[in-house]
Amino acid sequence: MGKVITITSGKGGVGKSTTTANIATALAKNGKKIIAIDFDIGLRNLDMILGLENRIVYDVVDVMEKRCNLAQAIIKDKRTNNLHFLPASQTKDKTVLDKDKVENLINELKKDFDYILIDSPAGIESGFEHSIYLADMALVVTTPEISSVRDADRVIGIIDAKSKKAQLGEEVEKRIIINRIKPELVEKGEMLSTEDVLHILALDLIGIVPDDEEIVRSTNIGEPIALNENSLVGEAYRRIAKRIENEEIEFLDLTKKKGIFSKLKGLFK
Ligand SMILES: Nc1ncnc2c1ncn2[C@@H]1O[C@H](COP(=O)(O)OP(=O)(O)OP(=O)(O)O)[C@@H](O)[C@H]1O
Ligand SMILES: [Mg+2]
Repeated sequence: MGKVITITSGKGGVGKSTTTANIATALAKNGKKIIAIDFDIGLRNLDMILGLENRIVYDVVDVMEKRCNLAQAIIKDKRTNNLHFLPASQTKDKTVLDKDKVENLINELKKDFDYILIDSPAGIESGFEHSIYLADMALVVTTPEISSVRDADRVIGIIDAKSKKAQLGEEVEKRIIINRIKPELVEKGEMLSTEDVLHILALDLIGIVPDDEEIVRSTNIGEPIALNENSLVGEAYRRIAKRIENEEIEFLDLTKKKGIFSKLKGLFK
């Protein structure tokens, strides 16, 4: 049975879709059979990051409403073996997803794929709840900013309350990804460090990803940066994929100095 991993966040725009595309790519490169699903109904963009937007015919809502079968909607990436994609619908409203239909779909996919990666929408409305409901693991993406970390904390609480596993008395594995770290700012004491963020969230880290303009370029050309062997940020995603597979691997050494947490501690009391 495949493992369901939801990539989520509290604050929007912190890098969920970028993370989903790159981890999906890196896991597929490692030989695992992967499907990435865009749950951002109405605002899809995972297709662009994966460079698959021109191949969309049907979407996840078409499957759930039986306008097509699953095989017709799944797009197989021609560049990366083992990588598959199920797009969000562009036009439908966000409330269109239905809990039972989502569950049927995910259960079907679990039979066929090693990992089902769900790109969660911004905000904590229904689309978000559907995206975390069946998660075995949640990767909570945050940037090293107070507002983002605080919202991540809130989302972690919701996963613990609303996921199916939590309701059955089991635990969803939760891991933090800190995205868009700027080492020079951390060194100057102007940005939260990794330690600062972990101190606030008290969860295990699964990856740190530097801020890198190359991401914008790779998104524009539809080629996930995890495919670029020479890229540090690509390496960051490849390491996250390895850790998902329980491989012990060091974190990138982005900075050694302490951040500004000590100055801000009071905000979290
Ligand atoms: N490590 C990074 N370095 C530089 N830019 C990044 C990085 N990660 C993401 N970005 C950029 O940040 C923007 C938001 O990223 P993305 O769309 O992945 O976020 P999101 O959390 O999925 O957003 P939404 O909540 O709207 O779905 C994009 O322009 C992306 O290229
Ligand atoms: Mg997104």
